[in-house]
Amino acid sequence: MSAGAALGEATARAIDVTRVDTPCFITDLGALDANLQILADVQRRAGCTILLALKGFAQWSTFPVVRRYLAGATASSVAEARLAREELGGEVHAYAPAYSDGEMAELVTLADHIVLNSPAQWRRHRAAIARANRSAGLRVNHEHQEVEVALYDPAGPCSRLGTTRANLRADDLDGVDGLHFHTLCQSNSDALGRAIAAFEAKFGELIPRMKWVNFGGGHHVTRPDYDRERLVRLIGAFRDRWRVQVYLEPGEAIALGAGVLVASVMDVFDNGMPIAILDTSATAHMPDVLEMPYRPVIVDAGEPGAKPHTYRLGGMTCLAGDVIGDYSFDCPLAVGDRLVFLDMAHYTMVKTTAFNGVRLPSIATHDPATRQITVHRRFGYRDYRDRLS
Ligand SMILES: Cc1ncc(COP(=O)(O)O)c(C=O)c1O
Repeated sequence: MSAGAALGEATARAIDVTRVDTPCFITDLGALDANLQILADVQRRAGCTILLALKGFAQWSTFPVVRRYLAGATASSVAEARLAREELGGEVHAYAPAYSDGEMAELVTLADHIVLNSPAQWRRHRAAIARANRSAGLRVNHEHQEVEVALYDPAGPCSRLGTTRANLRADDLDGVDGLHFHTLCQSNSDALGRAIAAFEAKFGELIPRMKWVNFGGGHHVTRPDYDRERLVRLIGAFRDRWRVQVYLEPGEAIALGAGVLVASVMDVFDNGMPIAILDTSATAHMPDVLEMPYRPVIVDAGEPGAKPHTYRLGGMTCLAGDVIGDYSFDCPLAVGDRLVFLDMAHYTMVKTTAFNGVRLPSIATHDPATRQITVHRRFGYRDYRDRLS
């Protein structure tokens, strides 16, 4: 997403992108390791537990690196919980706005902590969770807004995410071990400080009954300007005040600046301005570009007009709006040229679709020590066919 979009340029330049077929995601194992070291350091100094939010980053071929540093993962669905259990190991936590009885029957075999969204969901699934001896939590909504884009703001009016104080009675929490809030997005630790204050103001009287509190995701811990000292202080003070275990579950921060999407130019023509068609797509391969929306950063490309040759870069689907944006280059683009989009490891990779039957980008890793690129997965017709019937 946007706030980290310019990150990872030095990492990207060290990858020989001419050696892969495109389109291809390449995650740099060194950059991933560096992010995880930062998170492990916070974990150690703050005395908290940090989980990988799989919704943001689920490239399981990299889990041997993740496993070295983090305690486990958090899942937004039964499928993510299974991926965490089978491919990562460690603690598995789960939260979703609602679970069916069938999903819960499977989830209790996979997840250690299960967070429900409402007292009604807790009552519905309490017996199944108790039988499996799992730890239950409730997602609460302290209604303090820190996120400007409504699409990413769980604390806004009429939110469906988390129970507000007005809708919670103390006895709704009988049998519940933990409280969970998630109200940040690409935030620094000053925002977490305000979120904690809002959470304590609304739910403080209930915290002494809890074993753990989960501060959700949205913490941009690995961004260069993130104030980690304050994060460590905030968590330490919270633990001292309430004597509970603290969890953080960032997704984006794990892979910030750690991966690129490499694409090729397929055609160049003019219609009022120069247009280049790429073998990638905004709508199918980088949906946040249209949804959020944001402008991805391309290595060696500038704003329109900043360099001598400006192009509108478009995808290869039929959607009229499948446009990545207008970018300028030092030299004219030619068929076969490679373009390297920065900061594509988190969210972009998990959100791709096979709209129009376009081929999904391959998934690769780069080892900076050997400069070797390993392609873990190539996609083809069967991947498209098998999700339909
Ligand atoms: C409940 C929950 N936890 C964790 C995350 C991960 O957030 P991020 O990737 O912004 O750190 C999200 C993101 O939407 C979320 O909804």
